[in-house]
Amino acid sequence: MDKYDKVMDLAKRRGFLWNSFELYGGAAGFFDYGPLGCTVKRKIENLWRDFYVLNEGCMEIEAPTIGIEDIFVASGHVGGFSDPLTECSGCGQSFRADHLIEALGIEGVGALNTTQLDEMIVEHNIVCPECGCKLGKSFEFNLMFQTKIGPGTGRPGYLRPETAQGMFVDFQRLSRFYREKLPFGAVQIGKSYRNEISPRQGVLRLREFTQAECEFFVDPDVKTHPNFDKYKDVKLTLYPQAQQEDETGTTIQKTVGEAVADGTIAHEFLAYYVALTNDFLTCAGISPEDLRFRQHLSDEMAHYAVDCWDAEIKTDRFGWVEAVGIADRTDYDLTAHAKQSKVELSVYIEYPEPIFETKFVVKPDMGKLGPLFKGQAKAVGDALKELSADAIQAAGDEITVSVNGENFTVPKNLIAFGEENVKISGKTIVPHVIEPSYGIDRITYCVMEHAYDEEDLAAGASEEDDEESRIVMRFKNIVAPYQVAVHPLMGKPELSAVAKKLFNDLVAAGIMSDYDESGTIGKRYRRNDEIGIPFSVTIDFDTIEKENKPVTIRDRDTMKQILVSAGDLVAVMKGLLSG
Ligand code: GAP
Repeated sequence: MDKYDKVMDLAKRRGFLWNSFELYGGAAGFFDYGPLGCTVKRKIENLWRDFYVLNEGCMEIEAPTIGIEDIFVASGHVGGFSDPLTECSGCGQSFRADHLIEALGIEGVGALNTTQLDEMIVEHNIVCPECGCKLGKSFEFNLMFQTKIGPGTGRPGYLRPETAQGMFVDFQRLSRFYREKLPFGAVQIGKSYRNEISPRQGVLRLREFTQAECEFFVDPDVKTHPNFDKYKDVKLTLYPQAQQEDETGTTIQKTVGEAVADGTIAHEFLAYYVALTNDFLTCAGISPEDLRFRQHLSDEMAHYAVDCWDAEIKTDRFGWVEAVGIADRTDYDLTAHAKQSKVELSVYIEYPEPIFETKFVVKPDMGKLGPLFKGQAKAVGDALKELSADAIQAAGDEITVSVNGENFTVPKNLIAFGEENVKISGKTIVPHVIEPSYGIDRITYCVMEHAYDEEDLAAGASEEDDEESRIVMRFKNIVAPYQVAVHPLMGKPELSAVAKKLFNDLVAAGIMSDYDESGTIGKRYRRNDEIGIPFSVTIDFDTIEKENKPVTIRDRDTMKQILVSAGDLVAVMKGLLSG
């Protein structure tokens, strides 16, 4: 068994992750979170909220998971969100054409088009891996789940393939909410759907998954992040394009400040979110030595991005796995939605001090244009103001302008023109977007894999920890499914009564606790270790007989035990858990 099998075996046995629809034989690409998995996932989501909503002030919104067609036409998903698919002429099974070729050890296949893939299938004589029959011509398969909104012919709709579009579609409202002051960010956490072709990576490639995305709207002329100093000196493991293309393919270590100063990362906004992601993932329990930030090569960039850095986490079976993408989406989405909706999506930025620019200005004599062109005078005047110096100078005694396809000829002596010092108080821009996009399921699995440990206990650590080995999930306190387990040493009513009272005290203090009185205390410790409960509290006869009412606190990682007075338990636990 490799680590993936071991983690998934534990995950299934102990209620972290289950195959969905198991009762009916299951379906690839879907997983249920059981009671413990759901708790860990929610804690990771709440940690993410602490980072983005609480600390960064990026407020959360919730948009529908079904979107109307216009949204995904504008975003480019209807036209281009696809993978190359080939179907077997015999058994009818579908395969990703690029994966079949990659399986032969040929790399960089993703960038090939379907014709090139077909040529390679012929060249390498690739047949159906299931039945050996010939494969059909490959074609682009759109990964969005399509649906109909309403009965009858209905309106076409799609399950969203990313949460991001919610923030773009709500841009005008968000901009007003933030009093039209850049930069500002909004976040959304929720389900996204992709009809992945034969998902092969278990819990890492799902057809329904949770994304936590932030869309941070910035003025592209401002290159400095307001809080850059917070992460400036943090060291990151980076894998830029240049390193991937050279012979050695090694990562480099740089501080965030150095990476921006020498151009490794294009600007402070991208670098800030790379650093914040590094902070978040390590807080959640990802081992820093198994975390790197890889820049996308130019031929793998999404259609909306000019630059992107992935947080990649090392896993035992799948190697480096992308868990977060931090992309510079420029003004791609707002411009596309403005075009599709015919609503301007921009902000006006007032300069702190007005600036003065020498400009060529045209001033038509509106008093005389009025009687000449009646209802069209203003439109003619506006068209004249748009003329360039060259156009006016090149004209003879008359100038012709076109308004809504109709030509109007204006005597040149009704137009004053020349250079003027013009006061400019601000500018209208389409904001650019920096997007840190987190895949919560991948993060949750990787947190579990990095927490998983098998420990040899040759001599037994204590009387109760007397077995030869143990499985221990070394979850960080902040994501552990329970923080404390409470045990009466044995199921005697006088011990249970005290244990239950202490359990209630812990819960009332907001400490997520488990109560368990079945089996030997050693077995209960083993069970706690296996699901990663950081502390176990045991109540024995001393607790009821001795004056200072001692209870035993056992530390999951060291297995060391301390005695504290029952009256101090809540305060001591709070201290231990905050460490
Ligand atoms: N809005 C940008 C976006 O969606 P992405 O790289 O396609 O970018 C972001 O997705 C993150 O979502 C990925 O880094 C990954 O963690 C997660 N993700 C994407 N597809 C997934 C899938 N099929 N199953 C599980 N997680 C997925």
